[in-house]
Amino acid sequence: MTMTSKTVLITGATSGIGAHTAQLLLDRGHRVVVTGRNESKLKAFLDQAGHADRLLGLVADAADWQATESVVTRTVEHFGALDAAVANAGFMSGDSIGDGDPALWSPMVLTNVLGPALLAHAALPHLEATGGRLVLIGSVAGLKNSPANLYSATKWATTGLAENLRLHATPRGIGVTLVNPGMIDTPFWQGADVPPFALSPQPIAEAICFALGQPAGVDLNTLTIRPIGQPA
Ligand SMILES: NC(=O)c1ccc[n+]([C@@H]2O[C@H](COP(=O)([O-])OP(=O)(O)OC[C@H]3O[C@@H](n4cnc5c(N)ncnc54)[C@H](OP(=O)(O)O)[C@@H]3O)[C@@H](O)[C@H]2O)c1
Repeated sequence: MTMTSKTVLITGATSGIGAHTAQLLLDRGHRVVVTGRNESKLKAFLDQAGHADRLLGLVADAADWQATESVVTRTVEHFGALDAAVANAGFMSGDSIGDGDPALWSPMVLTNVLGPALLAHAALPHLEATGGRLVLIGSVAGLKNSPANLYSATKWATTGLAENLRLHATPRGIGVTLVNPGMIDTPFWQGADVPPFALSPQPIAEAICFALGQPAGVDLNTLTIRPIGQPA
């Protein structure tokens, strides 16, 4: 599906799913704003992505309100409007509520749960102006349970947020899509053994572009993309 040229803001887009989505959108002629916390990771992405005239990179913590508000404002100042926002920034502390380290949990909960709410709050007025779209990156972990898994609970929150934001957004002419990836081979896994069936980020990037390219009036609500062979 082809779509007319759009301005798309993606949080956490310096590696993995966000970076692949940004690259796909750039290669297809869109304007893209990417964020991340780590400045050198951001610079590395900007250096290799090309299309510098249609790409803006900003260091910003998705868990921070002022940083999020500033990213949205700077996007609109730089490119003139906002057609879509993708709440992608997220990570897994990797340990269990049973025997893990509670000090690691706050940044994960703030990024994964508060982050999409902050982005929605900042972006919705601009998306209303363009008849735009909000995309939340959830997870299969937000549809299924596993033992004492706080990361999974943050993604259950994303599942809920997508539906309650849809109820708020649809009368305002904004579409809301929840994209739930299964196991994807990215730095998310921090060098852990990723099973051979894990997908590359490319099909998730394609699914996000598919959601963004829906015709006016179509609200595509949920896409779940697992690798074949994923047992849960
Ligand atoms: N990989 C999987 O199997 C999988 C499965 C289901 C869902 N997901 C979800 O997909 C999303 C993307 O993950 P990924 O697999 O692409 O992982 P990734 O390669 O580790 O990418 C995460 C990106 O988010 C950024 N980030 C993390 N915390 C941030 C924060 N507080 N503020 C701004 N940027 C932040 C990271 O850069 P900095 O560290 O520099 O900030 C990086 O650019 C996440 O929401 C994840 O939960 C992943």
